[in-house]
Amino acid sequence: MSMTEIAPLSPAAQKVRESYDAFKAKGLKLNLTRGKPASAQLDLSQDLLSLPGASDFTAEGATDVRNYGGAQGLIEVRRLFSGILGAPPEQIVVGNNSSLALMHDTVVFSLLKGNCDSTAPWSKQDVAFLCPVPGYDRHFTICQEHGIRMIQVPLNTDGPDMDAVERLVAEDATIKGMWCVPKYSNPTGAVYSDAVIERLASMKTAAPDFRLFWDNAYVVHHLTDERVEIANVLELAAKHGHPNRPFVFSSTSKITLPGAGLAMFAASKDNVKWMLARLAPRTIGPDKVNQWRHVRFLKNEGGVLDLMDRHRALIAPKFAKVLEIFDAKLTGIPGVQWTRPKGGYFISLDVPKGSARRVVALAKEAGIELTPAGATHPYEKDPDDRTIRIAPTFPELADVALAAEGVALAVQLATA
Ligand SMILES: Cc1ncc(COP(=O)(O)O)c(C=O)c1O
Repeated sequence: MSMTEIAPLSPAAQKVRESYDAFKAKGLKLNLTRGKPASAQLDLSQDLLSLPGASDFTAEGATDVRNYGGAQGLIEVRRLFSGILGAPPEQIVVGNNSSLALMHDTVVFSLLKGNCDSTAPWSKQDVAFLCPVPGYDRHFTICQEHGIRMIQVPLNTDGPDMDAVERLVAEDATIKGMWCVPKYSNPTGAVYSDAVIERLASMKTAAPDFRLFWDNAYVVHHLTDERVEIANVLELAAKHGHPNRPFVFSSTSKITLPGAGLAMFAASKDNVKWMLARLAPRTIGPDKVNQWRHVRFLKNEGGVLDLMDRHRALIAPKFAKVLEIFDAKLTGIPGVQWTRPKGGYFISLDVPKGSARRVVALAKEAGIELTPAGATHPYEKDPDDRTIRIAPTFPELADVALAAEGVALAVQLATA
């Protein structure tokens, strides 16, 4: 055969091509990009919209929740989330919706002022963050937006590659922070082991003001009967003499309403003091009416866990459907593997090196929108062009099934 001739497709590849073309001909419009709750999940918190009621506005300490003040957040909400966050109420700050906003502001405050262990604002020097990959694109966007250099470290199923992390933070004082999604991480579902968390809490860092940005976004977002628990990073860091190291973040975005939830920050007493000092010039207080309505609606930690069970009933079948289809269609294809998360909002699909972009393009041609290949890595560049993030929560189950079929066909075609 000369170089210009195109090899004929094998019968198996021909069959894949026909199935793909038939799928494409359906002219579907499906979307697996959005890590957001489906409307049915938002309906679970519909009662929030009629709370707290016209005459119910006095919280502990005769606090009128309608008025200014209370920068740290109502004590009732801080108590409610204390167990979940693993911090006493006095070490919690509750803000408005979006923990991402809190993370962003914490980075910016650190750049402008330094933190309580800094001798100078971070921005006075080159600053780098460790970024376990694959990871959450919006963490990387915060760094990119503010000129923070990103250093990739591999994320294993039990957390980041700690040999790499320990070596890097010990030798490089420009490394001021590290992004961590310790439970059901975005997008692989990885859960940090106790050993990894202890090493993060105890490791030597060249920068005395180094911080773990501990984004526990999926702290109660279980998909199985097993409510996975992880080690308490605040306690371990304190035990190892680094009480200020973790900045813990979480929110009720995927518990109640992403557009009207509560964001939370938990940290050492000194960090909380530092954060409140930074917030003081910015606001005369958060939306305490929303905090109060969350207290009325969720009631206690048990109320949160019950609500999460109802979320799970709605979304676990969607994850199961994707996995069932991938198992049936993709098992045994060399270089193709996917995660089976026990919680969180994503499945991570690995395809052979150099083919993720092609799979995403083929899926798009067939009517399925996927998160762009590369989004799981800093600077939107996956050096192996291998990882694809699948977000099954938002579409209806039937559409999730169709989309998973289409993705599987795109993978089969790209690897045929
Ligand atoms: C790891 C992680 N952190 C934070 C967020 C956003 O949180 P919030 O809605 O509280 O801003 C998400 C949303 O997908 C996420 O996956």
